[in-house]
Amino acid sequence: MRGLKFLSLTVAAAAVAATFPAAAQSGDKAEAKAPVHEISTADIPVPPLPHVDWSFNGPFGTFDRASAQRGFLIYQQVCSNCHSMDQLYYRNLEGIGLSEDQVKAIAASVQVPGGVNDQGQPIERPGRPSDHFKAPFPNEEAARAANGGAYPPDQSVLELAREGGPDYLYAILTGYADPPPGVKMMSGMNYNTYFPGHQIAMPQPLQEGSVQYTDGVKPTLDQEAKDVVTFLTWAANPEMEERKQTGVRVILFLVFLTGVTYAVKRRVWSDLH
Ligand code: HEC
Repeated sequence: MRGLKFLSLTVAAAAVAATFPAAAQSGDKAEAKAPVHEISTADIPVPPLPHVDWSFNGPFGTFDRASAQRGFLIYQQVCSNCHSMDQLYYRNLEGIGLSEDQVKAIAASVQVPGGVNDQGQPIERPGRPSDHFKAPFPNEEAARAANGGAYPPDQSVLELAREGGPDYLYAILTGYADPPPGVKMMSGMNYNTYFPGHQIAMPQPLQEGSVQYTDGVKPTLDQEAKDVVTFLTWAANPEMEERKQTGVRVILFLVFLTGVTYAVKRRVWSDLH
């Protein structure tokens, strides 16, 4: 009897404990939604990502070289002011179809640390194709200090690091908008439809005409976003085309092998019929 009473008390206590946080939670929600002038951006759902028809999609997809080259131009002129790309060397740029001389010129256009001079003072020298991409800041602290405390992530493998890959990157670059009415933004933050929580420290980096293309392509926001994402996807997966070709060869070989096996089987069994 006593045991039963104790049990029912425990059950009651557990029920109360379970009810109260729930009550507190639903109270919070009601409060967040009721007044029109204070909507939390965390409560605004993130829509499904747009699906872009990338040149590198599918088993036969390849990187559109012209697009990747325009994308590098955008990285060079816009993104590299804040984002590093530590895992890339200038010579890797031959992978998007730039010539050795073009790569040399690109590398030589930046100054990199070049050891010390006779007096022991640090000096700089023009970059070489064997140098890493030059980072905009010497370290993470400096990068944060220049960006209101937020860290612009290294872009070498950004395409792999985010769910949705290229579609997500494209969505972020084209997803800036005015915050919906009643939404309060934290200071220094920008509203983005696709960023988790909708408040991003990066100011909108691309607008129509942010760069001047030399191949006659019109630099609309959509085009610029596609080009830079093509470049970033190549940077994160430089071996992708080779991998796909190997995959196709393996499949062709397996089809061939199946055919041979079937022919042999027919041959062997035909004697027994
Ligand atoms: C003025 C500096 C600045 C420039 C220029 C800039 N970014 Fe950023 N970027 C940032 C900062 C800061 C963050 C971190 C934002 C945060 O965590 O709220 C960021 C974050 C990002 C993210 C990450 C979103 C995520 O999921 O974490 C992507 C993608 C991105 N930038 C792409 C680009 C591209 C592409 C360019 C060039 C077209 C570019 N950025 C130019 C400062 C910059």
